[in-house]
Amino acid sequence: MTESRSDALVVFGATGDLAHKMIFPSLYQMVAHGHLDQPVIGVALDDWSVEDLIARARDAVQTHVDTIDEAVFGKLAALLRYVPGDYRDDTTFAALKTALARATSPLFYLAIPPSMFATVVGGLGRHGLAKGARLMVEKPFGRDLASARALNTVLHGVFDEEAIFRIDHYLGKEAIQNLLFFRFANSFLEPVWNRTHVESVQITMAEDFGIAGRGRFYEEVGCIRDVIQNHLLNVLLLLAMEPPVSGASDDLADEKVQVLKAIRPLSARDVVRGQFDGYLQEPGVAATSAVETFAAVRLHVDTWRWKDVPFYIRAGKHLPVHATEVIVTFRRPPLDVFGGTGRQGANYMRFRVGPAVAIGIGARRKAPGEGMTGEPVELCFVENTGEGMTPYERLIGDALHGKRQLFTRQDAAELAWRIVEPVLNSNAAPEVYAPGTWGPQAAITSFAPPGGWADPAV
Ligand code: BG6
Repeated sequence: MTESRSDALVVFGATGDLAHKMIFPSLYQMVAHGHLDQPVIGVALDDWSVEDLIARARDAVQTHVDTIDEAVFGKLAALLRYVPGDYRDDTTFAALKTALARATSPLFYLAIPPSMFATVVGGLGRHGLAKGARLMVEKPFGRDLASARALNTVLHGVFDEEAIFRIDHYLGKEAIQNLLFFRFANSFLEPVWNRTHVESVQITMAEDFGIAGRGRFYEEVGCIRDVIQNHLLNVLLLLAMEPPVSGASDDLADEKVQVLKAIRPLSARDVVRGQFDGYLQEPGVAATSAVETFAAVRLHVDTWRWKDVPFYIRAGKHLPVHATEVIVTFRRPPLDVFGGTGRQGANYMRFRVGPAVAIGIGARRKAPGEGMTGEPVELCFVENTGEGMTPYERLIGDALHGKRQLFTRQDAAELAWRIVEPVLNSNAAPEVYAPGTWGPQAAITSFAPPGGWADPAV
């Protein structure tokens, strides 16, 4: 499918949480920036009128902006339509067909629970609505390799792969895009970006809050499924991939897939799982739950470039700070000419990718004074460039234009499951950690990159 523009946006789940939190505020911004003038048709079970949907959209926008620009909101409201109905009923799709009127290339956005994907996609197929259309799907894309494959079979029964847009909102973040840009728009990194010079890579995604009332959801996923299989593996791919021959989506996806193929599936000794003290008392959580709210994993990327360079990822709820950061640590000088440098003060590159943005290089310099002793310094040359665009604004806009660079291709989604699958569904009790600490003791002391974890400071 070419990068043509979709002529309508259909949001299944328009009355739900995701629509309220992310989609309506993003649509408002798109209108404000002149990026949306197509009809937006909400579909959901609730017996609402279009006025109800407009009121809900206003409420959603209000929680995100200080003052609503009424001219902008008026334009958005004028684009909204609403089709109430059960996704299992053919009449819902017949009504949608009428509402789509002359649109010939709509974008269907499934902002609904995965258990309903097959029903909706089937309805679109039966009613001839998929022809010329695109489909946008929210994570999770399955919950293991088999279910991801089954889901892809369902989607492919009605849509071609080129028409399917799998969202990982992390890829829509400014700072994550900057990782790709920084690596391949500059030349100075390339000579040192390999096993000869890099000792280890660590990625930390720390959240200083808990599961925010999502106990039922979290029980089904756990930390590895929730953020490692998707968001953080995607960060790793941007760090580890070979230079693509162009910025075209398949060229990027091809290089990512090469890395995914080279990553060894995880085994139990490459994982430490933790659970914050208090998780079992959260609403919706089983009293004996073994679900992890923290995980640290060690990945091996068996490529010419990265063989034997460990890639560590750790993520957790209720950690001391809210920050996602990458540290690429370089090998020490071959001779310790000045003595006493030990493992301290290795050169590194730091990429802070959220919530703020920063890129820094760590080095050592002589401490002022008599002796030849060193002190660490960091040259931080990108800081807080801001979001520019929210991830959902960027991703919905890209999908409406058929731009696939920021979406996950089928083979990549399946290969990512292959890597984490062996350590999913562990019944072993995770080690309990106190909220506000860096996770279970084992992940602090005995399971760490060479030189230790670099805890993001905020
Ligand atoms: C979501 C996870 O996909 O990503 C959440 O379900 C997590 O558990 C969130 O908190 C983090 O995304 P962001 O954009 O807030 O860093």
